[in-house]
Amino acid sequence: MARELTNQTAVVTGGSRGIGYRVAEALLAEGAAVCICGRDAERVQKAAASLARNGAGPVDGVVADVRRYEDCRRLIHTAAERFGGLDILVNNAGIGIMKRIDELTAEEWDATIATNLSGAFYCSREAIPWMRKRGGGYIFNISSLAAINAFAGGAAYNASKFGLNGMTEAMMQDVRYDNIRVSTIMPGSVATDFASIFGGTARDPWKLTGEDVAKAVLDLLKYPPRALASRIELRPAQPPRRK
Ligand SMILES: NC(=O)c1ccc[n+]([C@@H]2O[C@H](COP(=O)([O-])OP(=O)(O)OC[C@H]3O[C@@H](n4cnc5c(N)ncnc54)[C@H](OP(=O)(O)O)[C@@H]3O)[C@@H](O)[C@H]2O)c1
Repeated sequence: MARELTNQTAVVTGGSRGIGYRVAEALLAEGAAVCICGRDAERVQKAAASLARNGAGPVDGVVADVRRYEDCRRLIHTAAERFGGLDILVNNAGIGIMKRIDELTAEEWDATIATNLSGAFYCSREAIPWMRKRGGGYIFNISSLAAINAFAGGAAYNASKFGLNGMTEAMMQDVRYDNIRVSTIMPGSVATDFASIFGGTARDPWKLTGEDVAKAVLDLLKYPPRALASRIELRPAQPPRRK
């Protein structure tokens, strides 16, 4: 198969496991150079080594905490300088702390908003000038169906993802004439470590996989440049029936 992303550079935040790892893997298989990040140095290093063994393009791993603006700046600049530019940004890093509003601490609230919302703003803010230099690019924000469906115990997570959808839609309109496309991908339950937050497991067979989300990213990248699928709701086809 022809590799369609040769000479393109991508940054995937939270690419050390879960959905981000699968997105990085899929981009690499299409020939892109990919830089992943995460907070845990050992995990980042192991993931980058494993991606490098199997991928077609070059890989880098940067230890960066997307809650910090300086880390996001360093991440984007490291990737763009090492690989000669930046074309694709996947804002994927995310956490979920599910607690009733009156049990949620201020620190837990701040961490959720900082990771899931501010991190995507910081990385996009730094990535856009690099994409303009290339004549365009693509930003994916991995949101959630929790961005349109609030639930008990979801105050911080729902707020972060509702906010992410709003920011993404405004950003899409800000940068469309710079030839930068922006899409929100809103998955339902995906079989990753994240699943335990909802009392499930990463092995539930009805769940989406990281590969399913990665396929959405690749499919959108291959759309004709005149077309923009700005919001994707990606659901498990057959979740357990509600009793
Ligand atoms: N799994 C689901 O059911 C599901 C459904 C809808 C949407 N999503 C969204 O999909 C995204 C990925 O979720 P996932 O299921 O793949 O989760 P995951 O398996 O827990 O992986 C999360 C990734 O993000 C990184 N990360 C977390 N906080 C970070 C920070 N402050 N700075 C940098 N990296 C950070 C983690 O690495 P470190 O811990 O080492 O930092 C890890 O690589 C999230 O935005 C999540 O909200 C997930």
